[in-house]
Amino acid sequence: MIDFQELAKKYSTPLYVYDFDIIKNQYKLLKDAFKAKKSLICYAIKANSNLSVIKHLKNLGAGCDCVSIGEVKRALRVGIDSYKIIFSGVGKRDDEIKEALKYEILMINVESEAELLRVELIAKELKKCARISIRVNPNIDPKTHPYISTGLHDNKFGVDIDSAKRMYIKAKNSPHLNPVGVHFHIGSQLTQIEPIYESSKIVANLVRELKSLKIDIKFFDIGGGLGISYKDETLIKPYDYAQAILSTLSGLDVTVICEPGRFLVGKSGYFLTKVLYEKTNSNKRFVIVDGAMNDLLRPSLYNAYHKIEVLNQNQEFSKADLVGPVCESGDFFAKDIDLPKTAHDDLIVIKDAGAYCFSMSSNYNSRARAAEVAVENNQDRLIREREVFEDLIKQEEKFI
Ligand SMILES: Cc1ncc(COP(=O)(O)O)c(C=O)c1O
Repeated sequence: MIDFQELAKKYSTPLYVYDFDIIKNQYKLLKDAFKAKKSLICYAIKANSNLSVIKHLKNLGAGCDCVSIGEVKRALRVGIDSYKIIFSGVGKRDDEIKEALKYEILMINVESEAELLRVELIAKELKKCARISIRVNPNIDPKTHPYISTGLHDNKFGVDIDSAKRMYIKAKNSPHLNPVGVHFHIGSQLTQIEPIYESSKIVANLVRELKSLKIDIKFFDIGGGLGISYKDETLIKPYDYAQAILSTLSGLDVTVICEPGRFLVGKSGYFLTKVLYEKTNSNKRFVIVDGAMNDLLRPSLYNAYHKIEVLNQNQEFSKADLVGPVCESGDFFAKDIDLPKTAHDDLIVIKDAGAYCFSMSSNYNSRARAAEVAVENNQDRLIREREVFEDLIKQEEKFI
């Protein structure tokens, strides 16, 4: 059991705490599920890009899925081998492509015909042959929140099957492109297996077709997306997930690459925040805390639900909004929930805050970002210092 009061006292609030043992268990569950085939788990750094989190996963054997050269550099900085790094994203800049090619990463996931030409051009300039995969958009509804749905033709991600075929043929005929992989990712926080299975079937058939064209795909990248329970969701079991994917791959000699983010780190995280004040405006009760939307954006952005626990003994409950100090009405963690009566400095724990929480944080309202702490084998350690005012003005000060 993590002693949140103790950690809040030691490191102050707002504070992120990550249980590294949970991350380890999640990694092992997933890796084990795919043991029937060659597999590589490429952690999606965007979920939580703290260097110590990435290093923890690297030590377990993970590679990384990156969506900017910054993320590629984070992976390299903690010692992830370049042959375990994938670079995805719909809008890669020339300088990012150039650097990725110089680092000799495993492959660049190409998301449009225009990007394929760009990668070819840059590889030619560098006298290199770029290892690529193509992100196929299978046009399957993943049945998740529209903001994190990516596998439909009206989403900006990937290309349709016919364009993908054209692109593979183009790549095969270019001395500067080496099509080694295929990629799809239909969305995040997935809780239904059928869309994943259907997508995998479509993409596996493409791989078979490519094989008949003498295009030999070695890496079958199924993206990420496995959901976690924030409330009471029914979840896909890692074993069933792997079985569904593997059942579509008969006869194909491919390495399965999986790019989980949320599944690996989501349940490990806790956001600790303290009560500043209570107030009531024409019968509406607000509990105002020292954390805010700049620290944890998901409720404001997606109306996302997080379990919330107030660590006091008070049994007098009533409805309240839990809000931060930022000057936006959208700055809330929850609305109209039952909360006990609180006092100044009462500690509140917001759960399942390991994924897309700190990594989406900002300095909005000139608020310094929270500190981050890891707990492993019952030992806690700081993995990111709390920002101070000087950090906020570092890039501006010399111009005044
Ligand atoms: C290409 C790609 N791979 C992996 C992920 C990770 O998704 P998740 O955190 O749901 O596993 C994302 C998230 O958006 C993504 O876009």
